[in-house]
Amino acid sequence: MYAPTLGLLLAGAGSALAALDVDFKSTASIKAAAKDVAFDVMSYYKGNRTGKILGLLGDKPPAGEYYWWNSALLWSTMIDYWRYTGDDTYNAVTVEGLTAQNGHMADRKGIPFLHFNWTVGTGNDDQGFWAMAGLQAAELGFSNPPAGQPSWLDLAKGVFEALAIRWGLDATVCSNGGLRWMIVPMDAGYNYKNTISNAVFANLGARLARYTGNTTYGEWADKSWTWLTEVGFIDADSSVFDGAHVEKNCSDLNPIQWTYTAGVLIETAAFMYNETSSKTWLNRLTALTNHTLSHFFPASILAERACELPNQASKCTGDMRFLKGILLRSLASAAPLAAPVREALDSAGVLKATAEAAVKTCEGGVRGRECSWEGEVGVQEEMNVLAAMMGVLAQGGEGKAVGKQGAAGSGGQSGTGSGSGNGDGSQGGSGEAGSGNEGAKSAGATVKAGMAMMFGGLVAALV
Ligand SMILES: *[C@@H]1O[C@H](CO)[C@@H](O)[C@H](O)[C@H]1NC(C)=O
Ligand SMILES: *[C@@H]1O[C@H](CO)[C@@H](O)[C@H](O)[C@H]1NC(C)=O
Ligand SMILES: *[C@@H]1O[C@H](CO)[C@@H](O)[C@H](O)[C@H]1NC(C)=O
Ligand SMILES: *[C@@H]1O[C@H](CO)[C@@H](O)[C@H](O)[C@H]1NC(C)=O
Ligand SMILES: *[C@@H]1O[C@H](CO)[C@@H](O)[C@H](O)[C@H]1NC(C)=O
Ligand SMILES: *[C@@H]1O[C@H](CO)[C@@H](O)[C@H](O)[C@H]1NC(C)=O
Repeated sequence: MYAPTLGLLLAGAGSALAALDVDFKSTASIKAAAKDVAFDVMSYYKGNRTGKILGLLGDKPPAGEYYWWNSALLWSTMIDYWRYTGDDTYNAVTVEGLTAQNGHMADRKGIPFLHFNWTVGTGNDDQGFWAMAGLQAAELGFSNPPAGQPSWLDLAKGVFEALAIRWGLDATVCSNGGLRWMIVPMDAGYNYKNTISNAVFANLGARLARYTGNTTYGEWADKSWTWLTEVGFIDADSSVFDGAHVEKNCSDLNPIQWTYTAGVLIETAAFMYNETSSKTWLNRLTALTNHTLSHFFPASILAERACELPNQASKCTGDMRFLKGILLRSLASAAPLAAPVREALDSAGVLKATAEAAVKTCEGGVRGRECSWEGEVGVQEEMNVLAAMMGVLAQGGEGKAVGKQGAAGSGGQSGTGSGSGNGDGSQGGSGEAGSGNEGAKSAGATVKAGMAMMFGGLVAALV
């Protein structure tokens, strides 16, 4: 992939080739290394160059290498980078990237983070990861979107409401609920209910509940978690499985466990526990954290067990190589909010062990510090290593706290600040149906109207 001559040329030109070297006892050393890795992460971002698409790492396969949601992970990682290090070098390009993909079209009422370029082939989980990045920006008081663009909070709320409508569409199968994977029926995967889509929905609900104080969001988080348990996607041991098919009434469970699904759910439970102090959420949180630390950290080092360990027949795909960083960032996010997570992490010591192992892989490429994983190099490996280092920073108490709407020094300005585009995303295809459990359960007509608007919009967008 890299022409060796280029490395020799650079080395010959006097460029310092030095493997990444971190003293994990020193916060300054971790931050300095994180700065190098953040630079290397962003070296993969070409979306702001002429002829490329703003906000994206690249086109989706087979034309390109990256799925649309991968770029949401890039921006979430860069928001976290600023959170834990205070370095705002990439804030402007992050705002530009997130805004470019926010789906806002001045002439059209649309659902946020679903630009018609990307509607086909997009899952509820994909759209949800973009909303999670937006919500993270709101919670942390990240730089605001430009004037005339919807606020970070409105974007997250708009996606949440769209997901809430879609949740209620299958009242007779699969334990009477749950989101499907894909959004439009023409996509393969529309017949599949997957855990991650529901986990992302619960995550948005939990975080919106804490950020806004509106308990309706928390009820949805609880309803989603309960459903995941009832349908068997989370079992009694807190194993979290991939999903199952609608035409089989979700009886054909796919038992693969992924790191990121557990991570998104741990963060969900941590936010709900923090907001409510509820025993139910505490139990969910401790059980899932326990399972995750023992299952995904064999020998204390994070592994994507479904495709990484030597006993697995096939290697992780490009998409799968993104997942570990999500779990690491979720643990970092959960720790400050919930003492049980902090205690479990402190006693297990897995974040430091993982970060130390991760950093040791960073010794290749033209700068001599490129990170690799099972022979692969890419933005995934750089993002995962950055996430691992941020985990150690978070465990050490570094990083800006997540705020609440309207609170001083928090992201409170997001909901009310720019006065822009409030009518944009939040209303798209949702109307009153997104407003609560009863809404989605009983108001079939409203839901259908919402769907008609969604697909009407889609068809309009495609012709
Ligand atoms: C694109 O973003 C990078 C940050 O990764 C920045 O250094 C560069 O100046 C930006 N280019 C343009 C044309 O905005
Ligand atoms: C949509 O696709 C067009 C054509 O490739 C591109 O110019 C535009 O930037 C894309 N917009 C988004 C939001 O992806
Ligand atoms: C679907 O599965 C649920 C849970 O196992 C069961 O209660 C329900 O009767 C099934 N529905 C159909 C239509 O088979
Ligand atoms: C989690 O693990 C800790 C320490 O091993 C243990 O004390 C606790 O009971 C466990 N909690 C649950 C819910 O499994
Ligand atoms: C919620 O998080 C805040 C900020 O870290 C912390 O001060 C508070 O004690 C947490 N609440 C609970 C119930 O753990
Ligand atoms: C709480 O959120 C729900 C769902 O978006 C919304 O319908 C309701 O009006 C909100 N309640 C308040 C008091 O803002």
